[in-house]
Amino acid sequence: MTEVVSIASRVSAHETLRGSAGRGHIRIDGVSIVFGSGRAAHQAVTSTTLDIRPGEFVCILGPSGCGKSTLLNSIAGYVRPSTGEISVDGEAVSGPGPDRGMVFQQYSLFPWKTIRENIAFGPKVGGRSATECGSIANTFLEMVGLTKFANAYPAELSGGMQQRVGIARALANYPSVLLMDEPFGALDAQTRLMMQESLLNIWSEFGTTVVFVTHDVDEAIFLADRILIMSASPGSVIADLKVPLARPRSLEVETSEAFMELKRSCHEKIRAESLRAFQQQAQ
Ligand SMILES: Nc1ncnc2c1ncn2[C@@H]1O[C@H](COP(=O)(O)OP(=O)(O)O)[C@@H](O)[C@H]1O
Ligand SMILES: [Mg+2]
Repeated sequence: MTEVVSIASRVSAHETLRGSAGRGHIRIDGVSIVFGSGRAAHQAVTSTTLDIRPGEFVCILGPSGCGKSTLLNSIAGYVRPSTGEISVDGEAVSGPGPDRGMVFQQYSLFPWKTIRENIAFGPKVGGRSATECGSIANTFLEMVGLTKFANAYPAELSGGMQQRVGIARALANYPSVLLMDEPFGALDAQTRLMMQESLLNIWSEFGTTVVFVTHDVDEAIFLADRILIMSASPGSVIADLKVPLARPRSLEVETSEAFMELKRSCHEKIRAESLRAFQQQAQ
């Protein structure tokens, strides 16, 4: 499994990977999201304003049901804000697009396509030639350390490997933004740690903006430049914290004083919001 940690350094095509550097500026301006209408209306997100810089790695934490996925889906263009606006690099988001890659918790690969075909799918739909698709697929297969599995089918791979294919498939469109919704939530603890290191390697190589939703505080601190904590429903950002840890990071950082202190502060804020969410549900 050590191959996972060093994968990005083995990729030769560095110039192509840097395609998204400098892009991925997300602006969320006064966004509220209401589902349903009338008596059935449910406000999931309220008055949220955020500015996420190109290349920034942002983690979103918050109690279950507070609107984390809804906010992420609105950046992806799957959910339309009821009020306010979202833009990426100055372009208003009005629907999904290849500039915003998404990775979900469930491995949403095509089971009837090989790993190579899964990764090449986006570029193929985007009109790239067969040669280009092949070369892009090879680059990203190498990046996630799965070259040997190019011709295998998803069912032949472990959960961690499938999730690496999911990341490769999202990156194969050269997105300026990578949106990840609890992508490692279904993995065992050991694989999860490997995936976190692996993702940081990929991100440092690729330079894309990442917005990563998790409810795991350790994961958020280990990965992020910046942590956003959301309130209980309706969700809004109640804390915007800078992670004061140098990069590159290795797992030892989790025992440092700075890590512990930030962890305490995050837990305190989330506990208060979780309690509020619990009380809301009990009413
Ligand atoms: N498509 C939808 N229609 C109606 N309600 C929804 C929809 N999606 C999410 N919700 C509701 O919005 C709230 C926030 O959901 P979600 O964003 O999934 O929370 P989180 O990801 O933080 O757990 C929840 O109360 C959920 O039931
Ligand atoms: Mg969610």
